[in-house]
Amino acid sequence: MSEWQKSDWRNKPRVQMPDYTDAAALNAVEAQLSNFPPLVFAGEARTLKQHLGAAGRGEAFLLQGGDCAESFDQFSADGIRDTFKVMLQMAMVLTYGAKVPVVKVGRMAGQFAKPRSAPTETVDGVELPSYRGDIINELAFTPEARIPNPQKMLQAYTQAAATVNLLRAFSTGGFADMSRVHSWTLGFTDEQDVQKYTDIADRIQDSIDFMAAAGITADTTHEFSTVEFYTSHEGLLLEYEEALTRLDSTSGKWLAGSGHMIWIGDRTRQPDGAHVEFCRGVLNPIGLKCGPTTTADDLKVLMSRLNPENEEGKLTLIARFGAGKAVEHLPRLVKAVKEEGANVTWVCDPMHGNTIKSSTGYKTRPFDSVLREVRDFFGVHKAEGTIPGGVHFEMTGQDVTECTGGVRAVTEEDLSDRYHTACDPRLNASQSLELTFLVAEELSGMRSAQGSRQAG
Ligand code: PEP
Ligand code: CO
Repeated sequence: MSEWQKSDWRNKPRVQMPDYTDAAALNAVEAQLSNFPPLVFAGEARTLKQHLGAAGRGEAFLLQGGDCAESFDQFSADGIRDTFKVMLQMAMVLTYGAKVPVVKVGRMAGQFAKPRSAPTETVDGVELPSYRGDIINELAFTPEARIPNPQKMLQAYTQAAATVNLLRAFSTGGFADMSRVHSWTLGFTDEQDVQKYTDIADRIQDSIDFMAAAGITADTTHEFSTVEFYTSHEGLLLEYEEALTRLDSTSGKWLAGSGHMIWIGDRTRQPDGAHVEFCRGVLNPIGLKCGPTTTADDLKVLMSRLNPENEEGKLTLIARFGAGKAVEHLPRLVKAVKEEGANVTWVCDPMHGNTIKSSTGYKTRPFDSVLREVRDFFGVHKAEGTIPGGVHFEMTGQDVTECTGGVRAVTEEDLSDRYHTACDPRLNASQSLELTFLVAEELSGMRSAQGSRQAG
């Protein structure tokens, strides 16, 4: 077989990608991007792969979260900071509950391109091409706004670069210092959850004080003062992905330089399609969304194509079935993985199978459905004797009203108050933390069951 080339996807059937009308403009942008620095480095992608391998073995847990779609309009340092803060809080709660390291991966710094359920959208009898994310076209409902414009890739790159830069600064510049564990609380979190978080933060602070007395401090211990934070997005717009792909001189392998991890969406996972072709050739860890229509046979082909060497941490399977449906669909896929002896990291995305239209006309997700899918995910893994390796959420640090429910009970009538998403409804900071406490309970329950089995 001839060697993989980063442009090979061009010979495969593609779906969910725009038809750019101005080829010269597209080529010029691709040429420019090809000369820009990559946003991440191969060594980082390899380290993330190791961490994801640990999550697959139950020795770590993945927390992946962020916007459904990043937007040019809502780009701000505060927005990035607040999502980063909530993720740090969530990671603390999970680490505390599960007693394993939490691998933190943002849906950030590149999450711009969106697959859509229909190629066009009709409003008041007017039909226009669908909005496909800020890297492709614009949300405004006018014919000009919906024309795919390759120039937007340059703005997306700039925004992603600035986002990565800020995330790196937050991760290592003192913000994430564990002794600041109390300072990450956001004002609008539910009081009950704030209290639960404060209790955990107090205990962490106690341990830090104890260790400091024993001579172990942030000055001496790197792990106390910094966090590792990785970026990820759906590898959907392959012109952008190809242009940022670089040869890693150390390993002689190709790196998708657009983010540490990229995933393949539920609508673009055709085994012989362009997206699988691109993703199979890069050294990065790859996510694969698994939905109700994923068959065991498809999954087997996809696993062998995306992870031919059966590397640990290479392939993360992101289950997204919908409340009540995980029980129906996940077991056959878990069995397929077992039959193949494949190394994968199983992660639960309880968002994308639970989108509904509210009576008030908003796309929303009921918190209870999200929660139920998480519980079912854990339940199936328990029954099958396999490892739940992480969660994947659409969430924000902002106090939005996009998903209904939670202890602060966002109602369908409330949705219009602060509905800001550029695409799917996200959990707000309070809902994210509440869900995390429940995940931590599942995890600590699982660990104590494991512990007693080992002891007995
Ligand atoms: C997403 O993660 O934003 C998404 C579109 O997911 P899926 O491909 O699972 O529908
Ligand atoms: Co989404």
